[in-house]
Amino acid sequence: MKIFADTANLDELRELKSLGIIDGATTNPTLLSKEIKRLYPDFRAHNKEELMEKGKEVLKEVCEIVDGPVSAEVIATDADGMVEEGKKLAKVHKHIVIKIPFGAEGLKATKRLSAEGIRVNMTLVFSPSQGLLSAKAGARYVSPFIGRMDDISNSGMEVVRILTEVFSIYDFETELLVASVRHPMHVVEASLLGADIVTVPPDVIKKMLKHPLTDIGLKRFLNDWESLLK
Ligand code: E4P
Repeated sequence: MKIFADTANLDELRELKSLGIIDGATTNPTLLSKEIKRLYPDFRAHNKEELMEKGKEVLKEVCEIVDGPVSAEVIATDADGMVEEGKKLAKVHKHIVIKIPFGAEGLKATKRLSAEGIRVNMTLVFSPSQGLLSAKAGARYVSPFIGRMDDISNSGMEVVRILTEVFSIYDFETELLVASVRHPMHVVEASLLGADIVTVPPDVIKKMLKHPLTDIGLKRFLNDWESLLK
């Protein structure tokens, strides 16, 4: 199973990369705007084009850190606009994957971008039927949002379970990318179900590193060893 970092924060990405366990990254307009505000607190774009240029600047830096696919989301909501923006974003770096929000327009844009060899990550997927249509349209990745489903008392993991099965029955090349991860058990459950990728926020990766018995065990080993010193 591949692990992606669910962040656009350059410092966090550098730190996670040093662990040697990151295969890619996912960003979205929320994460990217957060990083632009952190890096350039006084920046305010005069228009949408200028804002897009700033976004591309930060995405390029993300791609230079991450050795693998980096999802960058379009802002347009119509298929023509999504395709136009997607093509521009794809030119930023060879690692870029275009994130398209699910919907009729999203499906049309996915079909067109995929036909041109541009990889699409279909985002905002909340049901097996949406995931199935995304794969049919040629999405390279399909992202069910687990945490947001759990938040409204739907089972996010059930959608993951069904989609892993459907993708394997029909041999789709589409990879299931589990998103909106809230805690370590989401990662473990997704891996048990055979998800291809889980995109994990840095704070959840930090939680995955920790176990109190590891800390206690190490302290005891070191104390016992050092007891031989004069
Ligand atoms: C990643 O592709 C998604 O945009 C992200 O996981 C959404 O996470 P959230 O539901 O915590 O905002």
